[in-house]
Amino acid sequence: MGHKRHQIITEDGSSTLRIDDLKETYHSRHGAVLESDFVYLKEGLEFWLDQHPNQSCRILELGYGTGLMTYLTYLKSQKEKLEIEYVSLEAFPLSSAEIQTLNYEQFFQNDVVSHLFSTFNQLPWEQKEALTSHFNLTKKEIKFEDFTFEFSFDLIFYDAFGFHAQPELWSEQCMSRCYELLNPKGVWVSYCAKGSVRRGLEKAGFETFRLPGPPGKREMLRAVKH
Ligand SMILES: C[S@@+](CC[C@H](N)C(=O)[O-])C[C@H]1O[C@@H](n2cnc3c(N)ncnc32)[C@H](O)[C@@H]1O
Repeated sequence: MGHKRHQIITEDGSSTLRIDDLKETYHSRHGAVLESDFVYLKEGLEFWLDQHPNQSCRILELGYGTGLMTYLTYLKSQKEKLEIEYVSLEAFPLSSAEIQTLNYEQFFQNDVVSHLFSTFNQLPWEQKEALTSHFNLTKKEIKFEDFTFEFSFDLIFYDAFGFHAQPELWSEQCMSRCYELLNPKGVWVSYCAKGSVRRGLEKAGFETFRLPGPPGKREMLRAVKH
């Protein structure tokens, strides 16, 4: 994925990267932070926590990208004292120079944090880092398809590029892999609402839910393993 990327400012004022060749952005143009919060924290983590109050949560993210989603989860964990083990996979890491073009440090300047956004960018790959007493992060440079795990997860943030850019990541085979990676009652969540993805999830064994999407998107998907 040696495509050229450049920064754009989204509608909530937070930035993201765009790949013109793929007609893809790393987050929604309608708000990078807004979308990430809505899809993954509200409809993913908060939903899981409602069913499992006061339990620690193991989250798997595909893919790490800019690190924004990882950082938002860390902020939530810090504010609400949530115990989180976070593993994020990335096949094509961005360079530090690209990540430094993003305005997240400014965007989160009023948050009281133990770690700035830039810290996340500097963390080594393949190493588990205890960032606070309740937030562990492991960034892994690997393709989702090649990832093997020593434990299973409670929640998957499936944040791949869109179907038109990477159809292989939305295949029935990948959805089955997600099913295997989750604990019983585990939750898969994504901004994607495509019918074929939903059917793939159901074939894999999930119960699926079409939910109202974030601003600018009619629908999104959540899937639960029973
Ligand atoms: C929509 S972006 C993720 C944005 C990210 N969650 C964030 O907050 O910045 C999709 C990411 O998946 C990565 N990716 C593409 N193919 C992958 C694969 N096979 N396995 C893991 N990551 C992959 C891309 O390089 C890209 O960083």
